[in-house]
Amino acid sequence: MSATMSAAARPETAAAPPPVVRFQNVVKTYDEDGLKVEAIRGVSFAIPKGRFSMIVGPSGSGKTTLLNLIGCIDRPTSGALEVCGEDVGTLSDDQVTDFRSRNIAFVFQTFNLFPVLTAYENVEYPLLLLRVPSAERRARTLAMLDAVGLSDHKDHRPNQLSGGQRQRVAIARALVKHPALVLADEPTANLDTRTGAEIISLLRKVQLEQSVSFVFSTHDPQLISHAEDTFPIRDGILLEARR
Ligand SMILES: Nc1ncnc2c1ncn2[C@@H]1O[C@H](COP(=O)(O)OP(=O)(O)O)[C@@H](O)[C@H]1O
Ligand SMILES: [Mg+2]
Repeated sequence: MSATMSAAARPETAAAPPPVVRFQNVVKTYDEDGLKVEAIRGVSFAIPKGRFSMIVGPSGSGKTTLLNLIGCIDRPTSGALEVCGEDVGTLSDDQVTDFRSRNIAFVFQTFNLFPVLTAYENVEYPLLLLRVPSAERRARTLAMLDAVGLSDHKDHRPNQLSGGQRQRVAIARALVKHPALVLADEPTANLDTRTGAEIISLLRKVQLEQSVSFVFSTHDPQLISHAEDTFPIRDGILLEARR
């Protein structure tokens, strides 16, 4: 953020980093066969850059919907949404696809790996989409597999890996393209406590090495204990954020 920007132009306190995400009166209504569900009921909040931020709430509260809006997988029914400084509501479908592939990565609770591809090929895939030249692709894929401790398992397919190893592959795949923002939807929900703790410390390590913003959704107390910012949500309404 420009040092000349006046404090009045920044609603955040002077010490807070600039936001990576900003919601303004965002509503998301699902309409399936005429049955309307108001999943997000008018939220306004900003998520600071470069931190471990968590959207916390019970099942059905709207966490996945919020992450899908941030990740431009879905669009708000009304309101404005800014992601990485871009007013994403004004982008065309093609522009959104391009914006997402350059800036945003996802880690899902069910890992969502390609079952027929090896760990190496899963991690390499986003770099193929970005048309990264093959020598660089190979170097970055191997470095990322090493960073998540899976060099020895690079030729294994997902069904030959444990849950924790699969989530490591998913994290490597998310981070290999050096995204500005990583969205993780309940990343520890399908892991036992010890494996969940390993995954959390891996994410922490990555955060120290790369200047990346993490936004998690979770109701895992172990993960919540590492939150730098907490955004509690209930029934599509945001409660007071905690910093
Ligand atoms: N594709 C959809 N169509 C209709 N309703 C949906 C859809 N996705 C989510 N919902 C509803 O929106 C609300 C919020 O869901 P969700 O964002 O998945 O919550 P969470 O991730 O916190 O469990 C719930 O009432 C859910 O049933
Ligand atoms: Mg969910």
